Amino acid sequence: MTTSQKTALITGANKGIGKETARGLAALGITVLIGARNPERGEAAAEELRADGADVRFVPLDVTDETSVRAAAEHIDATFGRLDILVNNAAIATGQHIPSETPAATVRQVYETNVFGVIAVTHAMLPLLRRSPAARIVNMSSELGSLTHLADPTGPWTAYSSVLLPYCTSKTALNAITVLYANELRSEGILVNAVSPGYCATDLNRHTGIRTAREGAATAVDLATAGDDGPTGAFLTETGPIPW
Ligand SMILES: NC(=O)c1ccc[n+]([C@@H]2O[C@H](COP(=O)([O-])OP(=O)(O)OC[C@H]3O[C@@H](n4cnc5c(N)ncnc54)[C@H](OP(=O)(O)O)[C@@H]3O)[C@@H](O)[C@H]2O)c1
Repeated sequence: MTTSQKTALITGANKGIGKETARGLAALGITVLIGARNPERGEAAAEELRADGADVRFVPLDVTDETSVRAAAEHIDATFGRLDILVNNAAIATGQHIPSETPAATVRQVYETNVFGVIAVTHAMLPLLRRSPAARIVNMSSELGSLTHLADPTGPWTAYSSVLLPYCTSKTALNAITVLYANELRSEGILVNAVSPGYCATDLNRHTGIRTAREGAATAVDLATAGDDGPTGAFLTETGPIPW
């Protein structure tokens, strides 16, 4: 491996938008680490993407398990000595409840993956990212995390947001986390952005989405490979900035 060879870690990359982000980065010649909590599913995804001739490897990673997160960081350190790209993609959504009927335990469960999982992985990987000459962090957010959208009671997002308090607010928190990391890391040249993939047909929404997972991955791939003049602290979709 040459020192110019880039390595990317994508959490929750065994299926859906994470796997397509992995495919897109691997097609650019980047060594891609498929983070997945299930070994069979992770290995299967890596094997599928290797069939295209790419360097794609499975790394066991449950973002809610600190031991697993630490082991993944140690493995990457021992194997590559640094990390160039981190895509915090893993997320869950629970069933639908109106806000007043949503128990705290349900919100806590979603935040464990969508919020605390992102912080745990980013915290563990930052020492490795700091060794990269041009590190990039991409957080897979959602337009359902936009406070501007949530604050519009007649807008098109209300049908979803009115029954998804845990998921929507987890993405609002993720957006805030993105901005704070971006502010701290700007002077080090580490670019940190939140992206929305759009409404894609995946297991997360029982394939009701209207875009493909591959289409949804495109903005994440662009930001993961952005030049030094790329944005940071932004919330973007393929058509441009999303209102916070
Ligand atoms: N689909 C959409 O329309 C849409 C819209 C906006 C934003 N997004 C965001 O896009 C991202 C990908 O979603 P998707 O639609 O591709 O969903 P998906 O097909 O359900 O994929 C989610 C991935 O996250 C993994 N995951 C869940 N909990 C994990 C944990 N604790 N540790 C490690 N991995 C874990 C899942 O692994 P398992 O297979 O083991 O469950 C799976 O690989 C998410 O951040 C989602 O919020 C999606």
